[in-house]
Amino acid sequence: MPQINADSLEQLQQRRSAKWRGFDKDVLPLPVAEMDFPIADSIKAVLIDMIQRSDVGYGGIIPEFNVAFAKYCKDAWGWEVDPDQIRLATDVGVAGVEVLRVLCAPGDKVIINSPVYHNFYNWIKEVQCEAVDVPMQHDGNGTWTLDFESLEKAFADGAKAYLLCSPHNPMGTVFTHDELARIADLAHKYGVVVISDEIHAPLTFDDSFVPFLAVSDTARKVGLCITAASKSWNLAGLKCAQIVTADDEMKSRLNALPISVAFRASILGAWASTAAYNDGREWLADVLEHLKSNQQFLREQLAMHLPKARYFVSNSTYLAWIDLSAYGIDDPAKVLVDKGRVAFNDGADFGPDGKNHIRLNFATSQEILAEAIKRMADVLEA
Ligand SMILES: Cc1ncc(COP(=O)(O)O)c(C=O)c1O
Repeated sequence: MPQINADSLEQLQQRRSAKWRGFDKDVLPLPVAEMDFPIADSIKAVLIDMIQRSDVGYGGIIPEFNVAFAKYCKDAWGWEVDPDQIRLATDVGVAGVEVLRVLCAPGDKVIINSPVYHNFYNWIKEVQCEAVDVPMQHDGNGTWTLDFESLEKAFADGAKAYLLCSPHNPMGTVFTHDELARIADLAHKYGVVVISDEIHAPLTFDDSFVPFLAVSDTARKVGLCITAASKSWNLAGLKCAQIVTADDEMKSRLNALPISVAFRASILGAWASTAAYNDGREWLADVLEHLKSNQQFLREQLAMHLPKARYFVSNSTYLAWIDLSAYGIDDPAKVLVDKGRVAFNDGADFGPDGKNHIRLNFATSQEILAEAIKRMADVLEA
């Protein structure tokens, strides 16, 4: 049995994050990708120590962070990261935007695969590029795959960059080595840069995750990775992420990034993330056990109380992509929050095929999950 338990609803309601302050108090909130578990003790200790010593100035360059991340990547995935090819950024959103700003000009095409993390659309808009969607293909049984034919067409059509969500948010798809190698070859053929957002990678439930930059020399030439400890160790508010390259030419291209990008990461975030990579694996393993058990619980609860909902367990992360179309309601996320007092992300924000879907965050207690399903059923099965 997992050792780490989610905080009680009463404790959670005292949190000041957007998840817990974004709705009326009688609404049970299950959107926003953060966890309701207490953070790892090793991370708490670092933060408390820094606060007590008023060690909260500018972070700057932190070699210990680079070494810790490189060691984590080697241990977790056998991926050799050169500590000299890691740069800090405020968060993965800032990393994505700043990298796009350097690699693309306004009006350039950037490929995404919907349904996908809703802020990808915002990042691309922020740098005045054009999002080109190559939707993921669903086999109807829980397997989503890339449509390589359409991807190649989009590459051939002059795309500058490909924003790959790996593992994929919201479906949790973990791409295979072969798929990633094929992406790299296509990107090389058409001169596209692959920006692989791997923020969910440590939340993969088995050892199937493959870092894009680990697949081939071609991938290292065409790609870069943006990631953070923040999703897996629940540190989003501490503001620290990293941009990773594995090729000298790509590294030089990123020298166009303003030096301030690294300085805008938080010192607390950088040292908390260093502790996560150095000492947080046991905590994470426990959390993953918890999440796997929650995933099964959610599946059973949905089957029991909302039999027309379609949900497939995935191999990574704590987000459930739930198709509610069979209930014939136009805007289920809105109806559920208005009538059921339970909040989810609206699937429509993730792309056109997300209409009538919700994204549910199951990184919480089974009590809260059961209550959320009850509230959903009270509205949809009434
Ligand atoms: C794929 C993906 N990228 C980036 C982010 C946001 O990361 P950050 O808070 O570091 O900007 C999220 C958050 O859920 C995400 O799912």
